[in-house]
Amino acid sequence: MASWQEKFKHLKEEINSFKIENQSSLEEFRLKFLSTKGLIKESMSWISEVPKEEKKNFGLLANEVKQLAERKFQELSAQMNSKQTDTKRYDMTMPSSPALIATRHPLKIIEQKIIRIFSQLGFAVQLGPEIEDDWHNFTGLNTPKDHPARDMQDTFYLTQDLSYLLRTQTSSTQIRVLETQDVPLKIITPGRVYRNETISARAHCTFHQIEGLYVDRQVSMSDLKQTVYFFAKQMFGSDQIRLRPSYFPFTEPSAEIDISCFICAQKGCNVCKKSGWVEIGGCGMVDPQVLINCKINPDEFNGYAFGMGLERIAMLYYQINDIRHFWHSDLRFLSQFKSEFP
Ligand code: DAH
Repeated sequence: MASWQEKFKHLKEEINSFKIENQSSLEEFRLKFLSTKGLIKESMSWISEVPKEEKKNFGLLANEVKQLAERKFQELSAQMNSKQTDTKRYDMTMPSSPALIATRHPLKIIEQKIIRIFSQLGFAVQLGPEIEDDWHNFTGLNTPKDHPARDMQDTFYLTQDLSYLLRTQTSSTQIRVLETQDVPLKIITPGRVYRNETISARAHCTFHQIEGLYVDRQVSMSDLKQTVYFFAKQMFGSDQIRLRPSYFPFTEPSAEIDISCFICAQKGCNVCKKSGWVEIGGCGMVDPQVLINCKINPDEFNGYAFGMGLERIAMLYYQINDIRHFWHSDLRFLSQFKSEFP
């Protein structure tokens, strides 16, 4: 039979090696060692087997083991408490903080609005490439080499012979579509364009346009005017439009599109520079040469085209005074714009 010393040694080992995972194993520890029916209490009864002269040593050792068990219990419950307060910090029932939902870029919102308006009139969306060749960006659009209209549209050329470039206008998609699709057709083409421009509050070397093209039989200038009017009314709530004679190589006749100032109702303000009118783009009847370039018979078909700068429309619509805001990725700016569309 084991001696009382051995039994205490064994008891100490048991106490030391007891592992606590959770609240209920802490309670198991208490029941096993410290309760009235626990091993510490029981160990006191071993005294009956101890010879008189050893009783004092027994008492010392019994006390030591008891203290060991109590200390361990305190340590373990402190440990459990701190664990509990750790988990208490996370109240699983609390509603979570709202997830930040990104907003659309204002130019995308405006693009969507414009597409919505023109799709009501039956225009389909067509996209064209940003890297273009000379034919689609210039020559096909009746702007051959050495044409003075090229001066206003210097861009980033990609090859030494100037045959590939970053497109200067979405009008290039007109040629792509007319070459590959059957007429009649009615398209709008939004997208990014590039020019060799000094960056300022009003101009950027990278910007966006949206182009419209309608080719059919017997298209008239009044169809063009009505389309532009519908757009101005839907987009800005303008009551009047004005087509001012202008020049573009690919339309004849050509015009600048002005809409009545929707900010001051033509009383005169900063936006319309006291004129009552704001310019939003260019337009005209498709030059027959453009149709010929795309192997379409101009005696049978004709059409109109128009082009607008998206930044210009967005700046008017939201009254933004510096085009560079669109490029700064500043959330204080971007988060102000909310899309009406999903
Ligand atoms: N492409 C012209 C520009 O960037 C804008 C334009 C004018 C487009 C008249 C057209 C148009 O389709 O008919 O300045």
